[in-house]
Order: sequence, then structure tokens, then C-alpha cells
Amino acid sequence: MIITGKYPQLRLRRNRYHQWSRKLITENNLSVNDLIMPIFIIDGKKKKIPVKTMPGVFRYSLDKLNSVVQSAIHLGIPMVALFPYTKGSLKNPLGTESLNPNNLVCRACKQIKKKFKNKIGIMCDVALDPYTSHGHDGVFLKGDVDNDETVKILSEQALIQASAGCDVLAPSDMMDGRIGVIRKTLDKNGFKHVQIISYAVKFASNYYGPFRDAVGSKNLLKGDKQTYQMDFKNSDEALREVTLDIKEGADMIIVKPGLPYLDIIQKIKNKYKIPVIAYQVSGEYSMICNSIEKKILNQEAIIETLISFKRAGANAIITYFADKIAKNLK
Ligand code: PBG
Repeated sequence: MIITGKYPQLRLRRNRYHQWSRKLITENNLSVNDLIMPIFIIDGKKKKIPVKTMPGVFRYSLDKLNSVVQSAIHLGIPMVALFPYTKGSLKNPLGTESLNPNNLVCRACKQIKKKFKNKIGIMCDVALDPYTSHGHDGVFLKGDVDNDETVKILSEQALIQASAGCDVLAPSDMMDGRIGVIRKTLDKNGFKHVQIISYAVKFASNYYGPFRDAVGSKNLLKGDKQTYQMDFKNSDEALREVTLDIKEGADMIIVKPGLPYLDIIQKIKNKYKIPVIAYQVSGEYSMICNSIEKKILNQEAIIETLISFKRAGANAIITYFADKIAKNLK
């Protein structure tokens, strides 16, 4: 035990009495270095389309993208995460648009790299859901999302994205074995510096609704994702997932969603000492926004929530608040 002495000699309030003292005893801090900023992109020109379910979040066409990235760099945000909205005519059951080296997300990577070099990191999901007509993260064969066929496509998708200049591949599909296959494919093709940040722990969550709306897969999704994403009642299983992904070569681990899973973040951090990233997902974002709009919460609630990820042990946070709070943090 760490407590020595007792009341009234001992008063923990003494340390909290002045602001300068509170500053000195601060255990966790949040800075712009901790933030990863998601950006939704869309085909076309001069587009900045609001995502209805996510106040203050937009889909940008590529001619508007550079200025968004420029402002992220200006704010000191270390990395953006790109998410494409794919039009219906490009979707099919196999998600073949994912393998088009000139698809929207690849064009975005090339454009950002050309303009900004390594001033900011680019992360892209590896998964088929933006491209499949059924909204699943893999190919659907005989009534199931087929693991091994999907992994083959994912490793090609990863390679194509790396070739376009993506710095960090983030497999978000939850297929077995994909990290190892993707690592091998990258190494074989000269991309040994490209990182893999694995969504090792991705729960079949009810908090993804606004995101699916933003990328246009919401109304397409047939059934649910419970045969591949994790059951939210489990945590031992989360550790098994992480163990495997680390062995297969993951550089960092994402836990997703964030706030309902602080216990998982803490367990992974304690056990593996590997960089852990919390994903504060779209549903969490919308809930907080709505409460602030209705004045049930104030702005500080955003910081309080983000600090909870740091306290739990997260190194960084993927959050739609990134650009909105970065100024305050500076
Ligand atoms: C798809 C993907 C999802 C999110 C990120 N990548 C949704 C899903 O799995 O259905 C959700 C992010 C969010 O809700 O903010 N692989």
C-alpha cells in the first residue's frame, strides 16, 4: 500500500488546492501528438458534403483535400486516416474496386504524398466494406464471409495502397491470419517500412452507425458482422486476438470502439507494452456532439473523454474531434 499517515495530518486536498499544484501532480496529458484525424473523401469536384449523422464532419472531394491536410499539418496532427465514400456503381459482391490502383483512396494517397511528402502520416483501412455491394468487410461465399479468399484480396489491397504512398495499413476486417499475410506481401515487395496497425480488437458494435452512413454502406449491409467482429461480452478473446497479431507482425494495436472498452485497452497495455491506439468511433462522437448541442455537456467533456483513453494506457486516439480540439490543446 502507498498510503502513509492519516487524517487530519494527511489531507489529499492539500495537493489540489492551487492550480499550480494541480499542474505539478498531473499524471496524464493530452496533446496534439496523440491525435489521428479521420477524413472522409468522395469522388467529384468542389464537394464538401456534411455527414448528416455527424455534426461538423464532411466528405471532401480531392480538390479540397489538400487544404484539409494542410490545416491538420498546421495544427501539428501527426496522422490522418482516409475513408472513401464509394458510389454504388463501383460496388460489387467481390469489392473489386479495392484492387483498382487508381481508386479514390489511392489517388488521395498519391496526391497527399506528392504535396506534403512525409510531413504527415497517412493511414488507410484494409477491408472491403467500402467496395462490396453487401457492405461486408470480405467476400461473401455460400452465405458466409469467406476468410481465406478475403485474406488474398486484402493482401493485394494492402500492396496497392502501400504503392500509392500509404504509410500505415490498418486491417479492420477481422479475418484470421491477415496480418501475417499482409506483412509478408509488403516485405516481399520492398515495403519494409510501411507499418501495420492492426484493428486486432474490433467489436461487433452498435456504435458504427454514423460511419456506415458516411461511407455509404449503411443501407447495403445484409445481416450483421458477428461472425468476424468480436462479441462485446468478451475480453480474454481480445487478448488472444492481440497475441496472434503481434506474432504475425503488427506494429501497433487498435481497440475499437473506445469508451466502452477502456478495460481492454488497459489489459493489452499492461500485458504487452505495445503501442495501443483507441478509436473513438462515430457513434461515440455523435453522442457527445448531441449532448453538447443540447447543452447537457460542455466542450470540456470532449477532453475528459479523450484523457480517459490516455489514463487507460492508449498512446494515441483516432477521433473525429481531432481538428476541433487541436487548437485548444496547443
Ligand atoms: C470498416 C470500418 C468501420 C469503421 C471503421 N472501419 C465500420 C464497420 O466495421 O462496420 C467504424 C468507424 C466508426 O464508426 O467511426 N471496416
